[in-house]
Amino acid sequence: MDGKLDTNRVFTAEGAPNIALIKYWGKRDEKLILPQNSSISLTLSRDTLHTTTSVLVSSKLDEDRFYLDGEIQDLKDKDVAERFGIVGIMRKMAGIREKVLIVSRNDFPTASGMASSASGIATLVYVLNEAFGLGLSTRKLSIVARQGSGSACRSLFGGLVEWKRGAEPDGSDSYAEQVFDEKHWPELMDNIAIVSQEKKKVPSRAGMKQTVQSNPLYASRPAAAEKRLSELTEVYGKKDFESLAELIMADSNEMHALMLSTRPSIRYLNRSSYKVMDLIEGLNLSEGKNIAAYTFDAGPNAHIITLSKHNAKVMEALEQLKASGDVFDVRQSKIGQGPSMLGKDFSLIDDAALGPKAGN
Ligand code: PMV
Repeated sequence: MDGKLDTNRVFTAEGAPNIALIKYWGKRDEKLILPQNSSISLTLSRDTLHTTTSVLVSSKLDEDRFYLDGEIQDLKDKDVAERFGIVGIMRKMAGIREKVLIVSRNDFPTASGMASSASGIATLVYVLNEAFGLGLSTRKLSIVARQGSGSACRSLFGGLVEWKRGAEPDGSDSYAEQVFDEKHWPELMDNIAIVSQEKKKVPSRAGMKQTVQSNPLYASRPAAAEKRLSELTEVYGKKDFESLAELIMADSNEMHALMLSTRPSIRYLNRSSYKVMDLIEGLNLSEGKNIAAYTFDAGPNAHIITLSKHNAKVMEALEQLKASGDVFDVRQSKIGQGPSMLGKDFSLIDDAALGPKAGN
């Protein structure tokens, strides 16, 4: 057993989702989760959306247990097992055998395209690093997180974060890196217009595999995304919102067009998502410049990137869609930081989670 392993203490961390501005949609290695192109995202503020995860490592536990939003998860379920594999990876790195009790909560709808898996996995990897006494760098943690869910690796940093495609077959150069921290452009913000709380029908893992395998239009995607990513980095550095907005909308539309033209067709956007697109395009047109940009991950909820000085106008425009029942909530987020540990006293683990099987 590692000398640093503290089996009496509950470790708790908090992390946030990210919204991709240049999207990852397609792998070149399914097992290691290596992407076809680099991607870039903004980490959201934990004040708006967050995952909180507590971990207890104990030799008294006879099996791993994982509670998500109050419900015990079936670790034999394929989807859960694929993501939970990172626990085994990290346990092996630490050279320990003890089982873990993990209790995790999201303060936003899980699996509705709001990157709950990214937030959840980044936070889990971060807290396990402490609980297992591993002392890994954030870059190394991003490599582990990537293997649970690709986009999760970007949530280990704050601000604007790039996940590098890399070229090595073992994935050692496919990691996340901060491009600009959250203080670079403090006026930038994301309004998340929630149009649905339903669970997504096609998991992103299966969806992107289908696109890469069966969509002839996919061939042009990786190079187009790389080009757009370097343009975006440049305009972000100059705080050129007009150009940033163009690139954001173009990339979201390109990814969703690829999904749509995949056979069988994958459609994450719904009628209300299209209404948000119309609204933002109309607003930009009437202003004579881009004051906002929409982007959608693998779900119908819209992320509207804007600047704080334009936010009142964006919120006012969204009122129309609230009145029509298309948008039922808007969460306003600033650009946030990567995960951090919460104080020793903060724990989500209660008696119910410990239960008789924990073998106290
Ligand atoms: O990391 P995954 O498997 O949840 O895939 C996420 C893919 C998108 O959210 C649609 C795009 C992205 O880059 O985050």
